[in-house]
Amino acid sequence: AKARHFEWEVEYMYGAPDCLENVVMGINGQFPGPTIKARAGDTVVVHLTNKLHTEGVVIHWHGIRQLGTPWADGTASISQCAINPGETFVYRFKVDKAGTYFYHGHYGMQRSAGLYGLLIVDVEEGKKEPFKYDGEFNLLLSDWWHKGVHEQEVDLSANPMRWIGEPQSLLINGRGQFNCSLAAAHNSGSGGRLGCKFRGNEKCAPNILHVQPNKTYRLRVASTTALASLNLAIGNHKMVMVEADGNYLQPFSVNDFDIYSGETYSVLFHTDQNPSDNYWISVGVRGRQPGTAQGLAILHYQTTTASKLPTLAPPQTPLWNDYVHSKSFSKKVLALSGSPKPPTNKHRRIFLLNTQNRINGYTKWAINNVSLTLPPTPYLGSIKHDFSEAFDQKSPPDTFLNTYDIMRPPSNPNATYGNGVYMLKFNNTIDVILQNANALNANVSEIHPWHLHGHDFWVLGYGEGKFSKKDEKKLNLKNPPLRNTVVIFPYGWTALRFVTDNPGVWAFHCHIEPHLHMGMGVVFAEGVHLVGKIPNEALSCGLTGKMLMGEKHN
Ligand code: C2O
Ligand code: CU
Repeated sequence: AKARHFEWEVEYMYGAPDCLENVVMGINGQFPGPTIKARAGDTVVVHLTNKLHTEGVVIHWHGIRQLGTPWADGTASISQCAINPGETFVYRFKVDKAGTYFYHGHYGMQRSAGLYGLLIVDVEEGKKEPFKYDGEFNLLLSDWWHKGVHEQEVDLSANPMRWIGEPQSLLINGRGQFNCSLAAAHNSGSGGRLGCKFRGNEKCAPNILHVQPNKTYRLRVASTTALASLNLAIGNHKMVMVEADGNYLQPFSVNDFDIYSGETYSVLFHTDQNPSDNYWISVGVRGRQPGTAQGLAILHYQTTTASKLPTLAPPQTPLWNDYVHSKSFSKKVLALSGSPKPPTNKHRRIFLLNTQNRINGYTKWAINNVSLTLPPTPYLGSIKHDFSEAFDQKSPPDTFLNTYDIMRPPSNPNATYGNGVYMLKFNNTIDVILQNANALNANVSEIHPWHLHGHDFWVLGYGEGKFSKKDEKKLNLKNPPLRNTVVIFPYGWTALRFVTDNPGVWAFHCHIEPHLHMGMGVVFAEGVHLVGKIPNEALSCGLTGKMLMGEKHN
């Protein structure tokens, strides 16, 4: 195992993600940020310097459990203070498990601003994956707005709330085409835009994946969208799903697959199509009435010229509200046989009701009627050092009223702000039932992809309506997949299980950036007294912070 060192500077810079000039967040002048490649067991060391002029920054390593290093999780107000302008923070953590991961900003809406990149962990030297391939490609999916994130934050926090709307573009590896469509000739997937010509070297030209005929390739796909749920397909090529969120799957074959924000997948495909053609890879929006054209990349058979546009139209994205299609896919995602199984019994079960609410006229999202607002002192430090005044000492509720009608808008939409923590006993088995409900408007219930920090969890099942006793027997304890992100479907529930074996304080939240911004998350703490020495820089902001911390607790 190796230590892999990186020196990174985060800054705002000009870019043109979808061919239109805009301000983006970059790392060392790159957008998306550099791809980190490591092997399982390596230590990644990132010296992160904040080159923003007027705001803090942190980076979260999405999917990395941070075993023994909870202060390196990169969540502002939870695991550390935001890094001030001009300061450098060192993230040092082990990547213990091979898989497809990514990283992103976790302060304000910096992820929406473009602060993200891939983190690929290969198997240890000499070890093998449970499948074979001849080459691999990475696709990082995101969505893009022309309005800057600061304005978006103000819009979302305004009274009345001004919704940010659908993204202007979908990006694949940071590239989209807003003004024109390469697919226009096919009259589909072009979103009504006119055709365009690329020389191919433009920064916003679609990514080209160069392949040889009759080979097997691994495609690693990660979604860091702010809002969009996506579906990906490769023209004429079937795919086999083999990995999700850094865990192996029982392989199954698909024509297209859904990917929600916060999820990663690896798929295998065989280049068995006519080698004198090229093919589109398309991503389109699911679960919301789309207002955004498909994102495109090109699969190029090296037996033909790269500039030859595919003769077939880009694959059509399934209808946005074809939830039958989405659910049948999600239910096929199961663990590779021989994967770790969940404990058979739980110690505690927490129901989390997802609702849209109003607080003094402001539109918010709440969990069991509490809308999360983060405190100025990071929980990791305030819990370890018993600063009880740092956050609400009353724990948020473990459940909601069983008379609550999830099929209708809330009869009383009022919620409260809170920053309380679910204090979990160490080495306990916790079940969470995520319960979806109707939003503020009638006949609206949205998709929410939930992401847990510090852990993988087993997805025990999905169901319709309100979770009830009879659903309990149907939970899958045999081969549930391990994941770090799972979706709840409109008007449905999702059950998951995890073991509190990783001392630290961990966010669990909807991965839709505006939803998190509007309070859609909770905080779990476990075994914090077992956490080792937290680096001072994580808990102090500037020299005065360090000095004051030294005075209050040694
Ligand atoms: Cu990828 Cu808390 O997020
Ligand atoms: Cu959400």
